[in-house]
Order: sequence, then C-alpha cells, then structure tokens
Amino acid sequence: MARVALVTGGTRGIGHAISTALKNAGYRVAANYAGNDAAAQQFQVETGIPVFKWNVGDYAACEAGCAQVAKEVGPVDVLVNNAGITRDAMLHRMTLEQWKEVISTDLDSVFNMTRQVIDGMRARNFGRVINVSSINGRKGQMGQTNYSAAKAGMHGFTKALAFEGAAKGITANTIAPGYIATEMVRAVPKEVLDTKIIPQIPVGRLGESEEIARAVVFLAADSAGFINGACFDINGGHYMAT
Ligand code: CAA
Repeated sequence: MARVALVTGGTRGIGHAISTALKNAGYRVAANYAGNDAAAQQFQVETGIPVFKWNVGDYAACEAGCAQVAKEVGPVDVLVNNAGITRDAMLHRMTLEQWKEVISTDLDSVFNMTRQVIDGMRARNFGRVINVSSINGRKGQMGQTNYSAAKAGMHGFTKALAFEGAAKGITANTIAPGYIATEMVRAVPKEVLDTKIIPQIPVGRLGESEEIARAVVFLAADSAGFINGACFDINGGHYMAT
C-alpha cells in the first residue's frame, strides 16, 4: 500500500506543489486548507487530491481533521507542516492580534498537527515530519518579528522531535525556503522586493514552488531515514548558514 501524506496549507502556493509532487511520487495525499474554498475545489478537480478544511491553529479542529483523514485516506505516515501566514509590520506598529495570528497559524499548528499523528507513527515504527520554515526564521527580517519568531521556533521543535522519534523510525526535518514566487511573496511591496530583496539573491530570481517540493519528496522517502534534525536551506544563496 502506498504511504499516506498529509500536507497542511496544501492547496495553494508551495503547498500546492508539495501535494502534487508527493502524489506524482506515488503517495496517497490529503491536502488541508483553511479558508479559500474556491481555490481548494479547483485544486481537487485538477489534481484528484482530496481536500480537508480546518484551521491548523485550532487544536480541536486538528484532532477532528486528522481523524477524518485517517478514516478516509489512511493513517498518516508523512506530515508536512506547511501552512503559514504573514502579518508583516515593524514591531513598533505590530498589534497583539498580528503577533497572535502568526504564532497560532505558523507555530502552534506544528504542535497541534504533529501531536495528532505521533502516536500512530510510533506504533507503526515509521514517520516523516517535514516542517516548512523560512529563510526569515534563520536570518530574521525587517517587519517580521512575529513570523521570524514562529519560523525559528519550528527549528527548535524539529531538533527536539528528531531526538524523540529516532528510535521509532520517525525523522523530523526542516526546510527553510527563501523567497519563492507565491502570492505571499508577491504581497511584499514591489519596490522593497525589487530594490531590497531580489538583489540579495545570488541566483538573481525568486524560487519556484516546485524547487521546494522536490526536497519534500526527497525527505519523505523511506530511504531518507538517516536524515534527521536537518535544515535544508533552499534560497538561491540568499542566506548561507554555517
Ligand atoms: N530589507 C531592507 N530594508 C527594508 C526591507 C527589507 N526587506 N523592507 C523594508 N525596508 C526598508 C524600507 O525600504 C524603508 O526604508 P527607507 O526608510 O530608507 O525608505 C524602511 O525599511 C521602512 O519601510 P516602510 O516605509 O515600507 O515602512 P512600513 O512600516 O510601511 O513597512 C515593512 C515596513 C512591513 C517592513 C514593509 O516594508 C514590508 O512589508 N517589507 C517586506 C518584509 C518582507 O520581506 N516580508 C517577507 C514576506 S514573504 C515571506 O515571509 C515568505 C518567506 O518565508 C520568505
């Protein structure tokens, strides 16, 4: 039987490419989404991948949603925590709501989701938890104290889980995409993108979602069992961590 992969935020942007790439690699895929019904329906029609609507920032919703996925698609072997939002503002203008929304969707979600599937992974002695973080959780970014904090938190979570899961065949890894050509990045003011960001990318362009998805497929494989607690920076050379 093909393994089951669940991708949060899996119907748009980078998540769309991840869901599709996993399906093409032979996985049975379930794509979670939170808000955009029209995009999700179009995605389902185009790809044949079933979609499941819930808010990953809500623990009870994750519990119910993961139970539904297990019932309709199967127990989750590969969890891709991809859902994320931005609410950019300089700290001196950031509201408590902007802080909380980002921490809830981008970081609480990682606990809320992984907690639902970890028992099953332990029982079956196999699991892949792949957390889609960001270059901005590695280097920081103006206007993103909330997002950088949440994305950096994902790295700590990943490294701790990498210890805990290892004896049970469960790996946990992070991918840190740079600036990828998605709606999220296109929402950055054009002048900032053109003058402050793209000139910092040695490759000289934004990345493509498919360039992230291929790394997810790589980490999800049964043969990737020795890659654990790693962070893959995929950013065109924008930030080169030592
Ligand atoms: N790098 C360097 N300088 C920047 C900058 C950046 N990324 N963003 C803004 N600045 C500069 C501006 O050019 C401006 O400089 P001057 O005063 O010299 O003109 C100064 O910071 C203040 O900027 P604003 O006048 O625009 O101030 P603001 O309060 O209206 O907005 C901001 C500030 C929220 C940071 C806004 O500029 C912005 O949204 N910047 C982009 C932030 C960003 O990169 N977000 C990433 C979103 S994509 C994503 O998050 C996906 C991922 O994982 C990579």
